[in-house]
Amino acid sequence: MAQAKIAVAGATGRLGRHVAGVLGAAGHQVVPISRSAGVDVITGDGLADALAGAGAIIDVTAGPGSGQAAATGFFTTAAANLQRAGERAGVARYVVVSIIGIGRSAGGYGAAKLAHEQAVLAGPVPAAILRVAQFHELVGVLMDMGRQGEVIYLPQMRTQIIAARTVAGALAAMATSPPAEFAAARAAQAAGAPVPELAGPREENLASLARLAAARRGEAVQIQEVTAADPDSAAAADGSLLPGPHAKLAGPTFEEWLTTQPNSGTGP
Ligand SMILES: NC(=O)c1ccc[n+]([C@@H]2O[C@H](COP(=O)([O-])OP(=O)(O)OC[C@H]3O[C@@H](n4cnc5c(N)ncnc54)[C@H](OP(=O)(O)O)[C@@H]3O)[C@@H](O)[C@H]2O)c1
Repeated sequence: MAQAKIAVAGATGRLGRHVAGVLGAAGHQVVPISRSAGVDVITGDGLADALAGAGAIIDVTAGPGSGQAAATGFFTTAAANLQRAGERAGVARYVVVSIIGIGRSAGGYGAAKLAHEQAVLAGPVPAAILRVAQFHELVGVLMDMGRQGEVIYLPQMRTQIIAARTVAGALAAMATSPPAEFAAARAAQAAGAPVPELAGPREENLASLARLAAARRGEAVQIQEVTAADPDSAAAADGSLLPGPHAKLAGPTFEEWLTTQPNSGTGP
């Protein structure tokens, strides 16, 4: 696709800001969709104006909760509203980010993302899914969430973690690929090909990554792994989040990425 107008739903998020950055750097016109930009994918406020003249939607939204019911409600409503408004505006394609391994999900956030995928695919605007691994940026978020004094409690997690910027590049490429390429990818999926996956260069362990990040921050904290019985924790611990043999792999590694981050004590 030559230079185009592309709506990025979730443009201010951890992933969305990179999607907007990659598209902008390539000369595309980015329409940011987020409540802070005055557009709400749940109420529909501002959606028609935001999508007017857009060639594609990239959906990298996330709602306020990670519980199955709240997340399912958010994603399915957002997808239905984006599909409906997208059709009215004549949008030609809808690209959505999802998570590797959710096909094996027994519930929780994974099941909500599966419902997200299905809601996106059920709409009239031709859609394509990219399932990706956890983001390098997630390590710092989980560390902050798990901190109790001098100890940081983290879930057991096997992950082939990837930079959000790398994921952004792949989503932008899908949204701007030649029409024949986009149609061929959709046809392959309809014929039963596995959903495309993108992951980082190698399997990592969350606790080890957190130790690297703490060292980078100059923090003397203790990292402790905890187990839980909910479906998301079980999937993280048993390797269900790891990519399949058909996945594309792309750097940088977490360690390489960390060296590019500020070590002010607030990152990564
Ligand atoms: N984090 C990971 O490691 C990871 C891994 C694989 C896949 N993913 C997927 O990647 C996606 C993005 O994740 P993220 O971590 O980048 O999320 P995030 O940082 O929480 O960003 C969420 C974005 O959605 C927007 N948003 C929330 N509610 C909205 C509403 N009602 N209307 C319009 N915009 C709304 C937010 O902007 P406002 O608050 O301004 O509205 C923000 O731009 C999610 O679908 C997630 O499942 C994440």
